[in-house]
Amino acid sequence: MDEKENGKEGREGSVTRRYFLELLGLGSIGIVSVGSIALSASYLSPNVVKEPPTKFKLGTPSNFSPGSVTLIQDQNVFVVRAKEGYFFALSATCTHLGCITNWKGEEGIIACPCHGSKFNREGTVIGGPAPKQLPRFEMTLDDQGNLIVDKGVKVDEHNVLKV
Ligand code: FES
Repeated sequence: MDEKENGKEGREGSVTRRYFLELLGLGSIGIVSVGSIALSASYLSPNVVKEPPTKFKLGTPSNFSPGSVTLIQDQNVFVVRAKEGYFFALSATCTHLGCITNWKGEEGIIACPCHGSKFNREGTVIGGPAPKQLPRFEMTLDDQGNLIVDKGVKVDEHNVLKV
């Protein structure tokens, strides 16, 4: 069957109005079908928020000198090693309105740049509007002797890791 009989072409080489409308209709149905499938798939897939892992590894204790306070920037956590050698981990997130605090080594304090809260190296509030101390996170050693911090586990203010 040639195309003229099929209704696809009218005059020599031109597409008929009917054929054009058929193509337009099929295209529209295709677009609606793909959209429906995409919507159905997103509706049927679980609505899960993927959070980053709460645990992270810091390497061996020798990476931290006694008396040091180290901000782990990508985790917003201070790793504190006391002069006596034990460790603890503090949240660097200010308990006032959530700004990230900084260690001021020359003053020996943790300071918030937003509204002036100050904390000592134990995380206790010593000035400003912060309503409570910086939370302390669980620290452990893995089988290879690496320090592990778990931001998902808060511990009390006296909890330390002795190495
Ligand atoms: S957010 Fe730190 S003092 Fe306000």
